[in-house]
Formats: sequence, structure tokens, C-alpha cells
Amino acid sequence: MKEHLWKEVFKGLRRSGRRIAATGCMLALSLSALSGCGGASPSRTSDKIKLGVTIYDQYDTFLSQYMECFTKELEADENVDVVVYNASQSQQTQNSQVKKMIEDGCDVICVNLVDRTDPSTVIDAARKADVPIVFFNRELVEGDISRWNRLFYVGADAVQSGILEGELAAATCLSDKSIDRNGDGKIQYIVLEGEAGHQDAIVRTEYSVDTLVQKGIEVDKLGYAIANWNRAQAQTKVASFIENYGDGIELIMSNNDDMALGAIDAYEAAGMIKSDWPAIFGIDGTTVGLEAVRDDKMTGTVYNDKEGQAEAMFKLAVTLARGGSIDELSDEYEITDGKYIRLSYEKITATNINKYLSR
Ligand code: GAL
Ligand code: CA
Repeated sequence: MKEHLWKEVFKGLRRSGRRIAATGCMLALSLSALSGCGGASPSRTSDKIKLGVTIYDQYDTFLSQYMECFTKELEADENVDVVVYNASQSQQTQNSQVKKMIEDGCDVICVNLVDRTDPSTVIDAARKADVPIVFFNRELVEGDISRWNRLFYVGADAVQSGILEGELAAATCLSDKSIDRNGDGKIQYIVLEGEAGHQDAIVRTEYSVDTLVQKGIEVDKLGYAIANWNRAQAQTKVASFIENYGDGIELIMSNNDDMALGAIDAYEAAGMIKSDWPAIFGIDGTTVGLEAVRDDKMTGTVYNDKEGQAEAMFKLAVTLARGGSIDELSDEYEITDGKYIRLSYEKITATNINKYLSR
């Protein structure tokens, strides 16, 4: 078990004499991560705090960029050590990681749940050891978060992301009549959905299309595909839509940028000229997503504020680790029910893309 867990730890970096377990795609295991959240660090002073983080899948583009932002926050604070675990899409693995981080004396644990409907083991372990949990990005249901007063959530308002994507698509359809390529007065569209059961997938799918319709666009749904936030899966699904409909798809609403990019890959692989592509919209504003907007392959996206969310999570975790309360952040953030911090989304198109590319 121990061996297995260590293999899950990202490579640790030694910077400024302290330990950071690195994020995302970067690295393999190193010895400095082995003492990660443990109390064995000779450099640890009494005012040093230890945070543990576990993410559902390190290959998720948005999450890996989010963790890069989190690491930057960390670099600014000499008195915080962090270890990051990857749960490899297994809730069981994540449960073991949380127990391990508690044993190793982490002061606060940040959890990006694998299965947002199954946080019981994590909550029970944290509660027993009196270690606060900051859940992030994958929102647990209210009944679970209210099970203990030291459970928190940092994320964004999923409804808003759906509405903004719908508004972007509606504005494009209203201003550019060539989107209705077959001239039938309706927009033939498909939706690319993230994981079944994920709050963002459910809510974005519903609100993006509802908003489009509310804005007066007549629509004709050709189909939808669940592609689990994943670029390659989306490419495969869109390739088969292209086989069925040829240039008949006029709009693609994707729950995230990676799947929108998969759609773009499918059109490129099919050798279709750009004027036969649909208008494609995403959500996230990842680096690759922004580049696709800049290059006029994606018509627009919605910024999922990874910098803001990573900063809020860091500040909340540090505040809790030092014995403080979430209310101390109320000047900076809107706090709901003493538990939730939600950052806003923003619309991105070719007109404001430079602001985001330079972040
Ligand atoms: C969403 C994001 C997706 C994916 C997902 C993972 O907020 O838009 O790209 O990262 O979270 O939970
Ligand atoms: Ca049409």
C-alpha cells in the first residue's frame, strides 16, 4: 500500500529549501516528495503548515493548469508545504490518499473528488481526525457538505457558465447569418457533454441551450455525445456525426474547451474547409482553448477562472490551517452558507482574447 501511494505522488521539487510536490504533467517521483506531507522534514518550523491536495485525474487539462496556478500561490509563501496526489480516476485510491495525508499530519486537505456523489469515506476520516477539507471543482451535494462544519467548497457558478456560453452562441447566430448554412431559419446543433453526473456537465448542457432559445434562436438538435471532458473522445464522437451529417452541423456547444478542440480535430481530420465547419463554443479558456479562439477555429469560450479559484483555495486552506475561519475572507470573496466560495466566469471571443492570452 505504502509503495503504491508513493507512486501516486508527483515528483517533489525542492525550491527555496522547502518541499513542493509538483503538479500536472511535469514529473516523476523524487525523494523530496516522499516526506511530502510527513512530519519528517528537518526544515519544518512550528509555524509551517502542511496542505495536502488530491486531484481526480492529472491528465485533465483544466485541472492541471489549475494546479500550476496553485503552485504559483505556494511559491509566494515560504511557510507552506504542499503535497499533491493524483487519484487516477479512482475514488478508492483517493480515499487512501486522504487517509495517508491525515496520518502524515496535513493541517488541511483539498479534495477534487473523483466521484462527487461518494465523499463519505473522505468526510468520515477528516471529521474523526478534525482536519478541515476544502473540496474544489467537483462539487459534492448539499446533504454531504452540511454533514460537518469544517467542510468547504471552492469553485465557480455552473449555471453562469451555461448562460454565458448560450449568450455567446446566440450573439454569433444573430449577427452572422451565414451560420445557418442551409438557410432553413434553424440552427442545427450538437452538444458535447462532460462526465455524466458532473454538476458542470448537467448544468452547462441545460443552460447553454436554454439561453440560446430564450435569445430567440430557433434550434434543431441533431444529437449529443458524452465525451467525459476529453479531447480524443470528442474527436471520435464528432467524426461519426460528420459521417452522418457532413457539413449539416451548424453549431457545436461543448461543455469544455478540450472537447471543443476534439471537434476541431475531427473537422481537420475530415479535411473539411473552414467555411463548412460549424461555429464551435467551449468553456474553460485553457491555454490551448485560448489559442483556438485566437486562431479563429473556436468562435468563443467562457473563462473558468483557474487563477482566481486556485488563489481562493490557497487562501482558504492557509486560513483554516492557521486556525482561522472562512469569514476572514469575506472582504475578498462572496461566501455562501459559511461554506462556499464561487468565482465568476467571463465571456471570451476574438475581441478580448489578448487580455486572456497574456494572463
Ligand atoms: C470543469 C472543467 C472541465 C473539467 C472538469 C473536471 O469545471 O470545465 O474542463 O476540468 O471541471 O472536473
Ligand atoms: Ca440551418
